[in-house]
Amino acid sequence: MLNSNIYSLDMDLKPCTGCFTCIKKGGNLCSLKDDRTKIEDIIMGADGVILASLVYVMQVTGLTKVFIDRMAYKCHRPTYFNKKTIAISTTGGIGLKETLNYLELVAGSWALDMVHKLGITTPPWPVSSKFHDENDEKIQHAAEKFYKSLDSNKPSNTSLYISFKIFKELLQRLREYLPADYEFYKKRENYYYNTKIGVFKKISVYFMLKIVLFMIRDVFMQNKEVQGHISEDLNS
Ligand SMILES: Cc1cc2nc3c(=O)[nH]c(=O)nc-3n(C[C@H](O)[C@H](O)[C@H](O)COP(=O)(O)O)c2cc1C
Repeated sequence: MLNSNIYSLDMDLKPCTGCFTCIKKGGNLCSLKDDRTKIEDIIMGADGVILASLVYVMQVTGLTKVFIDRMAYKCHRPTYFNKKTIAISTTGGIGLKETLNYLELVAGSWALDMVHKLGITTPPWPVSSKFHDENDEKIQHAAEKFYKSLDSNKPSNTSLYISFKIFKELLQRLREYLPADYEFYKKRENYYYNTKIGVFKKISVYFMLKIVLFMIRDVFMQNKEVQGHISEDLNS
């Protein structure tokens, strides 16, 4: 197994300028030339991913956020399926839950398969040996769980089915604003990759989609024509 460690401090990663090109036109068209594609290739070639960040002011560190922002388009066009992932964070005392939940949310939107979240409190003062041993146990447990998951041949779940359907639906209306997304989803009929979606999931997502489209109707109703499309769909 090949191990690659990516330390954000060692990487040349420039902060996103907000030009929207990666999302709108394609990740490869980003004007910033740095190590982002190198990191993407490493993740793509990996069986497992360990996402780790210290807690800085109750969230991931700034450097981690720079990396996450540069990967924004992956939230629209996820490709990291079947990669077992663990999120790790350390804190002096607070912000662990927020940080780990955020890493889980981001990883999920890139299609990474989160198998465990490991949070460790390491204050900058001496702790009891009991506390120390508990941390060791947590680390051991997380390592075993992650390692076992790498060995299992269980395919990725289809938890992104609802977001797949939302994207598919909205892109009918937003193709001119999000052409790269439109092309990406046009090529994918039922899900991001060839798989069977269970009947129960299909039915429940069908109704969820109706509700979501209704809830976000104001964001996407730019004109009468669009309004007409949505009303037709909701009434069909
Ligand atoms: C800029 C900065 C901000 C920090 N913010 C927090 C915080 O919000 N909550 C907290 O409990 N610890 C905070 N810490 C402490 C670090 O999270 C803690 O030192 C780190 O997790 C220790 O990790 P290590 O033992 O792997 O070095 C902060 C530390 C720095 C340098």
